[in-house]
Amino acid sequence: MVPKAGAPNTNPMKDIPIDGDRLWNRLTEMSAIGAQEEGGITRRSFTAEERAAKDLVISYMEEAGLSVYEDAIGNLFGRREGLQPDAPVVLVGSHVDSVVNGGNFDGPLGVLSAVEVLQAMKDHEQVTRHPVEVVAFTDEEGARFGFGMLGSRALAGTLTVEDLQRTDEDGISIAQAMRNYGLEPQRLGEVSRPAGSIKAYAEVHIEQGSVLENKELPFGIASGLAGSVRLGFTLKGEARHAGTTPMNLRRDALAATAEAMGFIEASAAETGTTVGTVGQLELKPGGINIIPGQVDFTLDLRDMDQELRDDVEERIVSGIEEICERRGIGFAVELLQRNNPVPCSQLVREAASAACEELDVESFELPSGAGHDGMQLTGICPMGMILVRSKDGISHSSDEYSSKEDCAVAADVLYHTVLNLAGIAR
Ligand code: HGY
Ligand code: MN
Ligand code: MN
Repeated sequence: MVPKAGAPNTNPMKDIPIDGDRLWNRLTEMSAIGAQEEGGITRRSFTAEERAAKDLVISYMEEAGLSVYEDAIGNLFGRREGLQPDAPVVLVGSHVDSVVNGGNFDGPLGVLSAVEVLQAMKDHEQVTRHPVEVVAFTDEEGARFGFGMLGSRALAGTLTVEDLQRTDEDGISIAQAMRNYGLEPQRLGEVSRPAGSIKAYAEVHIEQGSVLENKELPFGIASGLAGSVRLGFTLKGEARHAGTTPMNLRRDALAATAEAMGFIEASAAETGTTVGTVGQLELKPGGINIIPGQVDFTLDLRDMDQELRDDVEERIVSGIEEICERRGIGFAVELLQRNNPVPCSQLVREAASAACEELDVESFELPSGAGHDGMQLTGICPMGMILVRSKDGISHSSDEYSSKEDCAVAADVLYHTVLNLAGIAR
């Protein structure tokens, strides 16, 4: 534990009912699923890799004595009964899908910490009043369809049948991918949970930034989650011969995109808190001696302040439109996803800071620049997060790393947070 300033420097691991070795070994086992030659791991939604990861989690859930089930969108649950089986459930978890060539901790740390908490409750015969469920949500990242958090949206009842028509780069829709995976998209409506059925949702997740590292803290409590808006741009010029077309007669879609990207970078940087990223870009026809006729690219724009983010979004869209007009380039933009920034609930923040009191460790609050499933649940239940120190602030990369000690400490804080939320019966 990280002793509070001035507290005696106690043995950091002495209070942990969590088995840090078991958690670490399971993270290692999980990281082999979807491992890529060129490094990192790739587990897209509704693929064999995501299935294998969920099957591994099922084996751990069974070891912890949980009753295991999957819902109609593939969310995986493991349930431990409380004294009052009809009481609202305390939900803990994260996701096991990943970005392309992602890291070993983004998602799995939250799911495996949650399983570890329930395993520790079993090992210590800890009985709670409320039932507790672990969840591994389907498709948090949106790496395959550009539109993520499918499982948590479905649980909140905000995922629509129209959303399931979105397609991946091979033109396969979410609905078709679900069918290929053995699910029935027409049963989507069965997934949603009514408000009041979940007492609270808590998630352990790597910070994916450098605040905790700079503060030299192993974990922190999330105060809120930044909201990301994701847009898809298509710039259409004219594919022509690279040798015979004078510079003043060109309608070069890539040159227009280059100017647009400079404008995006400057517009986001101007506020000091907004972040804008062009993560995907495809040009056509792509010949070495052909002027690019078309460029499709994405923008991921975020800020904790929604109004500020939306102002920057408006400025960027109209700025790119002006660039295209001036260059005689066709312009189209499509909204892929809009997640608004959300505060974490008082209930979970207080349960987590009480856990820190019990463990005699510092409870430091920080905002999360990353989005997470919890932001989809705020319409049906209180939610909160425990963020874990990321080495060099790196994530969405094979260099993503959190130490074994930090993972164990965060899981222990989650254990006490869950007890505070679920109520100790004996
Ligand atoms: O993109 C995010 O913020 C998260 O990693 N899904
Ligand atoms: Mn992620
Ligand atoms: Mn994540």
